Formats: sequence, C-alpha cells, structure tokens
Amino acid sequence: MPDPAVDLVKVAQSVGRTSRKTCGDCHFNGGGGEAVKHGDMSRQLLDPERSCDIHMGGYDFQCSECHQTRNHKIAGRSTSVPVSEGGFSCEDCHGDQPHSCDSLLDPHLNKHSQTIACNTCHSPVYAKCKPTVVSWDWSKAGDKNRKPKNDKYGMKDYNWMKGEFVWIESGKPNYTWYNGSMKRVLLGDKIDIDAQMVNITEPVGSIKDPGSKISPFKFMEGTMSADLEHKILIVPHLFPKDKEDTTAYWKHTDWQKANVTGMQAAHLPYSGKFKWINTRMYWGIEHEVMPADMALSCVQCHESLKGERTCDRCHQDTREVDFKKIAQKGTDFSFMASKGRDVSHLIGTTDYIDFKALGYPGDPIIHGGRFKKLPMGYKPLQ
Ligand code: HEC
Ligand code: HEC
Ligand code: HEC
Ligand code: HEC
Ligand code: HEC
Ligand code: HEC
Repeated sequence: MPDPAVDLVKVAQSVGRTSRKTCGDCHFNGGGGEAVKHGDMSRQLLDPERSCDIHMGGYDFQCSECHQTRNHKIAGRSTSVPVSEGGFSCEDCHGDQPHSCDSLLDPHLNKHSQTIACNTCHSPVYAKCKPTVVSWDWSKAGDKNRKPKNDKYGMKDYNWMKGEFVWIESGKPNYTWYNGSMKRVLLGDKIDIDAQMVNITEPVGSIKDPGSKISPFKFMEGTMSADLEHKILIVPHLFPKDKEDTTAYWKHTDWQKANVTGMQAAHLPYSGKFKWINTRMYWGIEHEVMPADMALSCVQCHESLKGERTCDRCHQDTREVDFKKIAQKGTDFSFMASKGRDVSHLIGTTDYIDFKALGYPGDPIIHGGRFKKLPMGYKPLQ
C-alpha cells in the first residue's frame, strides 16, 4: 500500500500520456547516471536537433509512437535484459523495401537491406549528442583521495564509489552479425574466469546465416569481480540499506565484506576468494537515426568505388548520373566535426564496417557477396 501521506487524488489527476520525458526519466539514466549504459539515449532526446535523431527531433516522435503499448506491455526488446513484452523493428513501419525508388540508388539500398541492418547505415555513430561510458573499472574504486580529472568532453574519469570510467562521444559502433537473439550470462551462470574477455551479452549470428544482418553495437566494457572457485560473477553489496547498515561497500570500501553480504543476499555461494576480470556487454544502437541524406554512402563502405566517376563499371555509362553526388556524399563527418562532434578521425574513411572483420575476404564488389558472386560476371580492374 502506498504511504498514507501520498495524495492519491492528486496522483490520479496527474495521470496523462507518456512522453519522452516520462520514459526518459528512467531510461536516460540506465546504469546509475545519464547516458551511462545506453549508447543512444540521453537527456538530449528531450529536445533533440534534427541531425541528432530524425524521428524525435525532426518529426517530434514520442517514445510510444514506436514502442506501441497495449495493456501496459511496452513493445521493444532489450539487448541486455531477458524480459520481453514483444519486439518490433524499423521494418514494421518502413517495410523491408524502405527506399521508395525515386533515386537511382534505391534498388541497391533495398537489396543491401537484406544483409545490413537499417541502423548500420542510418546511425553510423552513437552518442552523437552526449558522451556515454564505454569502460568502467570497479577495481579502482575506493580511493577517496583521488581527484577526478575531466576528460576532453568535460566528463569525470573517476568516482571513489564506482571506480574509473572512459567516456566516448560520437563513437563508431562495433559491427557484427546478429539474427535477433542474444546470449546472456545470468546471475549464477558459470563463466570462464581465465578468458581475456567474458561477454556478458553477445549477439547470435553469422555470415552464413541468411537471417543475420550486419548490426551496430556499443561495447560496454568493465572490470568486475568473479569468484575464483565457483567461477561466477560476484554481486557486491554496494548501497547501504539504511543508516544502520554498515556492511555496504560505500560505508567501508572493503570488497571482501561487500562480496560476502552481497552474495548472501543474492543466495549465491561465495568461496571468499575473488579476482578481477574483464567483461563486455553488447548494447544495440536503436535510436539516434540520422536524416536520410546523412546515411553511409556507397564509397564509405566500398573502397573499390572510390576512384569511380560514373556507374559504368557495372552499368552502361549514363553520364547524366552524378556519381559523386549520389555515391560519395553520405555521412558528412566534416560537417559534424565543424559542429564540435569528435569525428575528425572519421573524415574520408572507407571500408567503414570492416569487411574482413565480418568474414568477407575483402570488398564484396570485388570478392562477391556472402552467398554469390556478382551476377554479371564482373571482373575487378587490375
Ligand atoms: C520507473 C522507471 C521506468 C519508466 C518510467 C519506464 N521504464 Fe522502461 N524499463 C525500466 C527498467 C528498469 C527496465 C529493465 C531494464 C532495462 O532495460 O534497462 C525497462 C525495460 C524497458 C524496455 C526493454 C523491455 C524488454 O522486454 O526487454 C523497453 C523497450 C522500455 N523499457 C521502454 C520504455 C518506454 C517506451 C517507456 C515510456 C512509455 C518506459 N520504458 C518507461 C524502467 C522504466
Ligand atoms: C523511431 C522509433 C523509436 C523511437 C521514437 C524510440 N525507440 Fe526505443 N527502440 C526502437 C527500436 C527499433 C528498438 C529495438 C526493438 C526490438 O528489437 O524489439 C528500441 C529499443 C529500446 C530499448 C531497449 C534497448 C536495449 O538494448 O536495452 C529501450 C530501453 C528503448 N528503446 C527506450 C526508448 C525510449 C525511452 C524512447 C523515447 C525517449 C524510445 N525508445 C524511442 C525504436 C524507437
Ligand atoms: C512507428 C513507425 C516508425 C518506426 C518504428 C521507425 N520509423 Fe523511421 N520514420 C517514420 C515516419 C512516419 C517518418 C517520417 C517520414 C516518412 O514518412 O518517411 C520516418 C522517417 C525515417 C527516415 C527519413 C528521415 C528523413 O530524412 O526525413 C529514416 C532514415 C528512418 N525513418 C529510418 C528508420 C530506422 C532506421 C528505424 C529503426 C531504428 C525507423 N525508422 C523506425 C516512422 C517510423
Ligand atoms: C546500405 C545502406 C543502407 C541501408 C542498409 C538502409 N538504408 Fe535507408 N537510406 C540509405 C541512403 C544512402 C539513403 C538516402 C539516399 C536515397 O534514398 O537515395 C536512404 C534513405 C532512406 C529513407 C528516406 C526515404 C527514401 O525513400 O529514400 C528511409 C525512410 C530509409 N532509408 C529507411 C531505411 C530502413 C527502415 C532501413 C532498414 C530496413 C534502411 N533504410 C536500410 C542507406 C541505407
Ligand atoms: C554499410 C556498408 C555498405 C554500404 C553503405 C554500401 N554497401 Fe554495397 N555491400 C555491402 C556489403 C556488406 C555487401 C555484401 C552483401 C552480401 O554479402 O550479400 C555489399 C555488396 C555490394 C555489391 C555486390 C552485390 C552482390 O551481388 O552481392 C554491390 C554491387 C554493391 N554492394 C554496391 C553498392 C552501392 C552502389 C552502394 C551505394 C548505394 C553500396 N553498395 C553501399 C556493404 C555496403
Ligand atoms: C560493382 C558493380 C556495380 C556498381 C558500381 C553499381 N551497380 Fe547498380 N547494379 C549492380 C548489379 C549487380 C545490379 C543487379 C542487382 C540484383 O538485383 O541482383 C544492379 C542494379 C541496379 C539498379 C536496378 C536495375 C534494375 O533493372 O533492377 C539500378 C537502378 C542501379 N543498379 C543503379 C546504380 C547506380 C546509379 C550506380 C552508381 C552510383 C550503380 N548502380 C553502381 C552492380 C553495380
């Protein structure tokens, strides 16, 4: 029952539609602070610029216009928590042939959409509006004398309660094959504590799986404690329950004590011995869609098209096609840099998604797509 002091009439009279603010009051702060865990959500989405998020900035979408809700079940799957109230996708609104064919490139773009997730092209950098945490080292916590330093974005690199942070703004996503399923390490699951990196969440998919698409993720890396004998992640007791609670880490900064009480509360065994291990979570990039004319262009992925002036390498020469205009403009990193975004290292990049890392022998225009060679028997220029 609510506290009798709560004015329930006032509460009832305040019920209204959800908004970016009502959802964002929780979700912009996932991970204990603004923009800590989600790489694509922050308070900037309250009133974003068009270039930051075309739906919420350009067209004033509320969250629930995409996350359509019935009986308080909010559609939309998370990449981190294994609860589900139903999923949805960009295709639900735009269809799987979203490019309407008023541009000569559209047949190519629609074909690419079978292999490449929309946001790989349409959200080529994450946290463009506000820095997000990409690395969180708990092992460094506890030093009350250490003065936090401001990084180049003005974000603090240290907090004695939580440890050391690395922030990034306008980060380039990590691209991997994803078929919509995630592998997750849940509380009490055995892990390989000697591994260089333990993936707590990890997309399932492969280049050979027709249901997989190349999809963008933010890596959230951490240094966390694991039980040496039981080989499970530790849940430390951090936050004091009340004034009398002296067993919490933030009271005594003693990991050993915090581990004992934390694991007890979680009903998990604790051997009394722990080590620090490196962990990684994959966070999907679902928001911050840029305006259409800022999507990745042909040349930003296909190095082999860089020197072309027309499309005549594969098609009949049509000189009225302005190749430069339609195939090279793409995501304008120079413009973004001029607006103060941290992207100057991305100006002029090609092979943006790194074909080799995704399992291709090289640029698919030369080596063929994942299931076949070019239908016209095209041979690369020597
Ligand atoms: C009181 C806090 C709170 C509010 C308000 C809130 N959420 Fe959540 N939501 C959570 C928590 C906690 C989770 C589970 C952990 C997570 O995903 O961060 C969650 C999960 C989700 C998920 C993933 C669900 C899944 O099945 O994987 C979506 C999508 C979502 N919320 C959207 C919304 C939208 C849209 C709104 C506004 C209509 C909203 N939330 C309002 C706290 C909140
Ligand atoms: C243009 C459409 C769109 C809008 C607007 C939108 N979202 Fe989403 N969101 C998505 C899509 C697509 C997914 C992935 C859904 C899925 O896979 O089922 C997603 C996923 C999420 C998730 C889960 C992410 C994760 O990996 O944990 C949360 C939480 C979420 N959205 C919250 C919000 C909130 C809060 C707002 C408003 C501030 C919002 N969304 C506005 C399209 C949208
Ligand atoms: C609830 C429906 C809905 C969902 C879900 C949705 N969109 Fe949209 N989107 C729209 C509408 C409506 C517009 C406005 C223009 C139009 O009708 O094309 C739009 C516009 C766009 C544009 C063109 C923007 C411009 O320059 O004017 C792009 C690109 C786009 N969406 C990509 C995406 C991607 C990528 C996703 C998934 C992350 C997504 N959309 C999810 C409804 C949706
Ligand atoms: C290979 C990169 C790529 C992929 C994948 C991709 N797009 Fe696009 N998209 C573009 C480019 C480039 C443009 C603008 C140029 C054009 O349409 O001629 C565009 C334009 C759009 C537009 C503006 C309207 C229109 O007809 O041009 C919408 C809406 C859109 N995309 C949605 C999506 C959705 C939804 C997906 C996933 C199903 C998707 N795109 C996948 C590159 C891509
Ligand atoms: C996000 C990176 C990306 C962008 C942008 C992109 N491509 Fe591709 N392209 C790919 C990938 C990945 C494949 C391999 C697809 C497969 O495995 O079937 C491919 C394959 C191709 C192929 C070979 C098709 C086949 O037969 O399998 C051609 C031709 C091509 N792209 C042309 C273009 C043109 C023209 C554009 C601009 C409209 C473009 N690409 C934009 C990533 C990209
Ligand atoms: C590396 C070779 C390659 C390049 C470069 C290339 N294309 Fe294509 N294009 C193809 C192939 C192959 C197809 C047939 C794809 C399919 O449906 O299997 C195609 C199909 C098309 C179609 C659809 C034609 C139809 O009748 O269905 C259009 C339009 C098109 N390309 C325009 C362009 C434009 C404009 C450019 C230059 C910006 C371009 N292409 C660059 C290989 C290429």
